[in-house]
Amino acid sequence: MKFIKKSVLIFSLLLLVFFSFSCAKKTEETKSKVAEGTKEKPDFDEPKICGGCHSELFSQWEGDMHHVSLIDPLYAAEAELAGKEAGEEVKQFCHSCHSPVGVMRKEVSGKIKNASTIAKEGVFCDFCHTVKESKGTGNASYVSEPGNTKRGPFKDSFSPYHDTAFSELHTKAEFCGMCHDVFHPANKLPIEQTYTEWKNSPYSKAGIQCQDCHMTPGPGVTKPNPGKAATTGPDRPMIYTHYVVGGNVMMTNFFGYKEHAKLAEERLKAAASISVKANLTPGKSGRVDVKVTNKGAGHYLPTGLTETRQMWIHLTIVDAKGKTVYESGWTDKEGRLDPDATLFNTVLGDKDGKPTIKVWEATKIISDNRIPPQKSHLETYSIPIPAGAKKPFKVVAILKYRSASQEVINEFLGKYKFTVPIIEMAKAIAIVK
Ligand code: HEC
Ligand code: HEC
Ligand code: HEC
Ligand code: HEC
Ligand code: HEC
Repeated sequence: MKFIKKSVLIFSLLLLVFFSFSCAKKTEETKSKVAEGTKEKPDFDEPKICGGCHSELFSQWEGDMHHVSLIDPLYAAEAELAGKEAGEEVKQFCHSCHSPVGVMRKEVSGKIKNASTIAKEGVFCDFCHTVKESKGTGNASYVSEPGNTKRGPFKDSFSPYHDTAFSELHTKAEFCGMCHDVFHPANKLPIEQTYTEWKNSPYSKAGIQCQDCHMTPGPGVTKPNPGKAATTGPDRPMIYTHYVVGGNVMMTNFFGYKEHAKLAEERLKAAASISVKANLTPGKSGRVDVKVTNKGAGHYLPTGLTETRQMWIHLTIVDAKGKTVYESGWTDKEGRLDPDATLFNTVLGDKDGKPTIKVWEATKIISDNRIPPQKSHLETYSIPIPAGAKKPFKVVAILKYRSASQEVINEFLGKYKFTVPIIEMAKAIAIVK
């Protein structure tokens, strides 16, 4: 079963920088760079082959967003639209992170549903573990060397199936940063900045990597996790788990990955804290201060696809008679969010300055009020309290999160008719006597 491919497949879509992202110019140069001697279609093992010996890691990865990154229906709908509106090479740019092997093997050129089986595995074992180096940050800056050598964190590992090599890159945030920083290839607008946010945070200064929070059991920084990396391997003091969850309860639920959905909810709940202070008198203008702190995320809160994610404050004031005196951040039966809610997100604008979630059209950031790591946001509400309201007042502030607005899901995924789950990240109550 052993075969060696010496060639290095250099795959740097940074080259796309020179090509317009929004007009459908057809160019040859946007294709991946393939070093001389590399096969036209480099071979990668399907994940279930690796799962034969790495069964535990396989079952963790199976329900991970990396596994479904191409077939994710929200991604698929947006990428198809990007292809239609901006051209095939823009779509290939999207796929370079969502199905790197599909792009290298040129097997995701048409409709996503017609992509090859291996392209549909998304970001999988044999892709990640044959990455040789990173050429810069973001925009799929990986250099892939498909072949028999699997690179990982061990200096002393032996496998009967493949060669092994120690790779420092795999133990560092720079590995994740190859894909978790996205900028517009034509106008350089930062679209996703998770790696850069981390790089400028106290976590990076303390040497805490993405892996230390996302590849260990449960939320928080590195927890000990002794075990075996392979069924026939030695006992090791630390195994990095492959759940790699973030905040996506919506899609993990959609695919029926219950365990991952639960883990994502746990992570969201560990990310923030909230507190509330209120000064309220019937017949007068009252004041409520709500403080939200990013206590657990190693990057901004929220991060990643922040023009689509929604995190907001749901504030209610109820008087002694049980009457709601004030409410901000409500959602109605159709899942619409209060337009005046305090929402933490990024608003991207197109060339006419209109808000857009079509990242390929974006030319500017209209607003960004997300919360940096270990920082807080103080929101002050000025609220007229009716003279007839009765003390004591119960003030409840809840920090809520959903992966997308219901409107976006209805527009892109209407046929599935699903309700976007809303997660309570943190809650605080104050009684005003
Ligand atoms: C998104 C990229 C990615 C994918 C997909 C991925 N891995 Fe990993 N894997 C890593 C990284 C990064 C580490 C090292 C973490 C560290 O040590 O900081 C790792 C570590 C390992 C290790 C060493 C033991 C451990 O977990 O610490 C093995 C073995 C391994 N992976 C096998 C697999 C297998 C098998 C699959 C598919 C079922 C897989 N990986 C999928 C990135 C990935
Ligand atoms: C026949 C069993 C077998 C198969 C199949 C297998 N592995 Fe392994 N692999 C092992 C063993 C055993 C180890 C050593 C574990 C240790 O040292 O703790 C290992 C180690 C690793 C490591 C750690 C390397 C290092 O130096 O850090 C990685 C990464 C890895 N395998 C990835 C893969 C990937 C990707 C596949 C599928 C393409 C795969 N393995 C298929 C048995 C296997
Ligand atoms: C080859 C590109 C690539 C690499 C390398 C990569 N990722 Fe990802 N990652 C993705 C893509 C694409 C998605 C989004 C999948 C989706 O939502 O459909 C994703 C999703 C995630 C999510 C889930 C986000 C959510 O909303 O729940 C987390 C967490 C994550 N990655 C962490 C990591 C970490 C940590 C590393 C490094 C060990 C890493 N990724 C390496 C491409 C990559
Ligand atoms: C100190 C721990 C910590 C570190 C370090 C960390 N994260 Fe996170 N990450 C979290 C927590 C907690 C969440 C859940 C809250 C959220 O969604 O932001 C999260 C969420 C995410 C999400 C999903 C965001 C969303 O809302 O869709 C992605 C993607 C992600 N992290 C990637 C990374 C990458 C890449 C790195 C390294 C550059 C990293 N994280 C470093 C704790 C951490
Ligand atoms: C440089 C790598 C990269 C490129 C290029 C890229 N993405 Fe992503 N994409 C990611 C990562 C990483 C995530 C996960 C971030 C998060 O969860 O917040 C993601 C998440 C998404 C999601 C969220 C899916 C979900 O279920 O919530 C959509 C939709 C998406 N991308 C669309 C696109 C489109 C359309 C393009 C091309 C115009 C594109 N992406 C190009 C890395 C990339």
